[in-house]
Order: sequence, then structure tokens, then C-alpha cells
Amino acid sequence: MDHPATATTIAGLPPAATDSAFTLRSFLADVERDDPGGVLRIVEPVPLDFDASAIALELEREVSWQSPLLWFEQIEGARFPVVTNLFASRRRYALALGVPESRLIEAWAERGDRTIDPVRVTGAPVHEVVLTGADVDLAHLPIKQHFARDGGRYITNGIVVANDPQTGVRNASFHRMQVKGRTRLGTSLHSRRHLWDYVNRAEAADQKIPIAIVIGAHPIFTFAGLWKGPLTTDEYAVAGGLFGAPLEITRCRTVPVDVPAQAEITLEGWLLPHVREPEGPFAEFTGYHSERSTEQVIEITAITHRRDALYHDIVAGMSDEHCSLLAVPQEARLLKALRSHFSNVTAVSYPKSGTCRLHAVIAMKNPVVGQQKNAAMVAFAEDISLKLVIVVDDDVNVFDDRDIFWAMATRMQADEDIDIVRNAFGAILDPSNRAGRTAKMIIDATRPSADFPQRHQLPPESIERARALLARLGR
Ligand SMILES: Cc1cc2nc3c(=O)[nH]c(=O)nc-3n(C[C@H](O)[C@H](O)[C@H](O)COP(=O)(O)O)c2cc1C
Repeated sequence: MDHPATATTIAGLPPAATDSAFTLRSFLADVERDDPGGVLRIVEPVPLDFDASAIALELEREVSWQSPLLWFEQIEGARFPVVTNLFASRRRYALALGVPESRLIEAWAERGDRTIDPVRVTGAPVHEVVLTGADVDLAHLPIKQHFARDGGRYITNGIVVANDPQTGVRNASFHRMQVKGRTRLGTSLHSRRHLWDYVNRAEAADQKIPIAIVIGAHPIFTFAGLWKGPLTTDEYAVAGGLFGAPLEITRCRTVPVDVPAQAEITLEGWLLPHVREPEGPFAEFTGYHSERSTEQVIEITAITHRRDALYHDIVAGMSDEHCSLLAVPQEARLLKALRSHFSNVTAVSYPKSGTCRLHAVIAMKNPVVGQQKNAAMVAFAEDISLKLVIVVDDDVNVFDDRDIFWAMATRMQADEDIDIVRNAFGAILDPSNRAGRTAKMIIDATRPSADFPQRHQLPPESIERARALLARLGR
């Protein structure tokens, strides 16, 4: 039986908020309550292209992964306010999962295994406005150009939902999407994951794939879009598992696909078989414009949205937001994979200095000789994008590049502690990748022996007294 959708809104937009629903707006209200400094509302009009990206990147230059969510109330020529930089802080990931930041990765790893089936509802807010036929025009939405050399305007927060062509299992995944006309988008499936697999099977049968693109939903839905698992798992049920309650869904108006009823905006359409058109370049997480694309094409048949919709964009390029969306889920996956072999793995990180994708750091407590290399090999098997794995002791802060380099400087000898595997497959967006081939390097920067010199330390009480004194002095 279908249930009525839960009503939700936020302060600043009519009508009032509720905490319980699975919506972007309820989450924004949570962020404003949790950390008023975590939201920067910009009321003066801002041009559509470039400036929001420039503001986000200026903010993060000061302190990494702590910049505020940006809420643009007026984007020039736009019907909708624009929210961006939501994922630039790990604190907001933790808030979405309802755990302290220190528990973020562990909680993600635990909850990713749980599934709760979605529930179909009537009266979906995302269908308050439905545009079809001649009314469909992507210019209706504030889709912007992010960087100077981008091939055009891009949807960066589009979660593509589609059903497996054979089994019907629902999948959700992020894909960059370039506006190619009123009803046409170009996209790239370079991760070669589930949607890529669907396309291959559908093309073999000369079939087009019905899809929907979700723009603006509770962060938990984003996390489900980033979830990686077998083709047989319904990613709407993963969203429910992560949230601890069923995702409310509704049927699209022009395609046989379900979307979150509480979304802000959806696009409906078809991924066309055998059609390829140039797409890109696009500013990627690597810090470079990517010229590489699988060049698929999507034809849009409907735009639907809440009457007072928010447009949610992701800061592209090597921004804190884009990179942490790669790092956080992958850290959870890696931690889980490593812990199933080694109980002495204490922490993992995907540092931004490695684009949050190509380098990983693993901390282990008292590893037995050789375990460091086994752990690195588990990491390479778990994540084909990795090029470098550094293994450190548990006294090293895997989130601090200075600490990691200090361990390499003082505990590692290159002739003994470095191994290289040649000509493996790796991330296609790495500009140094040679037609898919890449080398993989292991650095063992753990203490070479138990009688290794002790790291110098201060008594903890002295550190506490020092911090209190400095706080009194306003430092
Ligand atoms: C902001 C963002 C943009 C992304 N863009 C793309 C893209 O354009 N093409 C692609 O193949 N993967 C892209 N990805 C990665 C996939 O969405 C991701 O690997 C996802 O988990 C795949 O889902 P699946 O395993 O269910 O297929 C992007 C990820 C993020 C965070």
C-alpha cells in the first residue's frame, strides 16, 4: 500500500521544518542548528558561472576540510537558490549519519551492510511541478560552468538512478553531466561500474535505458550513490540501511524508474544506445581538466521539482568537497576490507595530497614482519584506482601529511622498504596513466624493529596546561 509522503520544509523557505524526514532541507536545518558557523548564507546576487566555485576554493585555502556550506539565495537569472560545498567538512558527513566525527568511518563501514527496503508513497513533493514535452528546457535550472576550460555547463550533483536491464535491481551513481541542448546531456561512465555494465548489456540488445537524475536529496542518499557493492544489491535499500528507515520513493512521470519522493529536483529521460558525442573537458578531482570520456548521451523527457526547490551543486575540480566524496566512502570500504584480514589495522586515510583517490595510508599496531605488504596488497585489490600505499605505525596520524612524511623520513630505507608492481590497471582520470596501465607502489614506513628509538613525548598534563594557558592568552 502507498503511504502519504512526509511533509518537510526549512527555515527561510515556506513552510516550517521537521527533523524526521529524509530530505536535503531537514538536513540543512540540522547543520544550522549543529554549527551556525557551518553555513554561510550569501544574499547578494552572484553570477551563475564560476563565482560560487571561486568562493568555495578561497574559503578552503585557509583550513582544509572545514569550510562552511554555501547557500546562495540569489544566483543571477536563476529561479532557485543554490546550495553548495555541503560535503566540504567531515563534521557534516558525521552529522548526516548521526555519529561523532571520530566514529564516521567505522559507522559508515558498519551501516553499509544493512539494507531496509524503500516504501512507495503518494503526494511526492518532488512532483509538485512537472514539466514535460515542449516545456522541458535544462535552462530552467541554475546549471553552471565551474572552471574556465570546462566544455560547458555541468550538473555535478546528479545521481543517476537506473534499473538493471535484466533483473530490475535499482542502482544509484554519480556522473558528471554536460548540458548539450534544451533536452540533451552528455556524460561519462569512466568508473566502469554498474551503469557502464547496464549500458553494455542494453546496447547488445539495442535497448535504451530509462533513467532519472536526482539533484538535491538528504546526504544519506548521496552516500548510497557512492556505495559500491555487488550488482544484485538494491541501492535504495542501502540508503534505507544507512538512514535506519525506509527511503520514500515515487514512480517517475515519463520513465519506468523510481525516485526519492522527497528530492528537490529530478530529471527523467533515456540513456541512448550506440550514441556517442564529444563530452568535456571537465575539471576533475585530479586537479586537471580531463579530456577522457566514455561520451554517452542522455535525452531528457521531464523536469520535476518542489515548488520552492533548492538546487544542490557540488564544487568540482580538486576541491575539498569533490575529494572528500571520494575519500570518506573509500576509507570505510578499505577499513572494512583490511579489518577482515588484520585486526591490528587502526586507521586508514586517502590524503588530499594524493587527490583522495590515488594514495592511501594504512596505520597498523605492531605489525608482524611482512604484514605491511599483505595489507598494501589487500588495498590494491580493494581499490583499482590506488597507485601508492604507505603503511605506518599506529602512532602516526594518517590524516596529517607532515606526520606521514616524518615516518618515511625516519623509519624507511628505499632499497628495502619500497616495492613496485608494473603495468597494472589504474584510474583512467590520472593524467599520467598510460592507456589504462599504471604502476603500484608500496612504502613500508613502519619501525623496522621493536628496539627502534622512542619518539619524544611530553607529559600529557603539561600539554593540557600549555593549551589552557594559550587559550587564556587568546592563542
Ligand atoms: C562528485 C562525483 C562525481 C562523479 N562522477 C563520475 C563520472 O562522471 N563518471 C563515473 O563513471 N563515475 C563518477 N563518479 C564515481 C561513481 O559515481 C562512483 O564510483 C559510484 O560509487 C558508482 O556507483 P555503482 O558502484 O553503484 O555503479 C563520481 C563520484 C563523485 C563523488
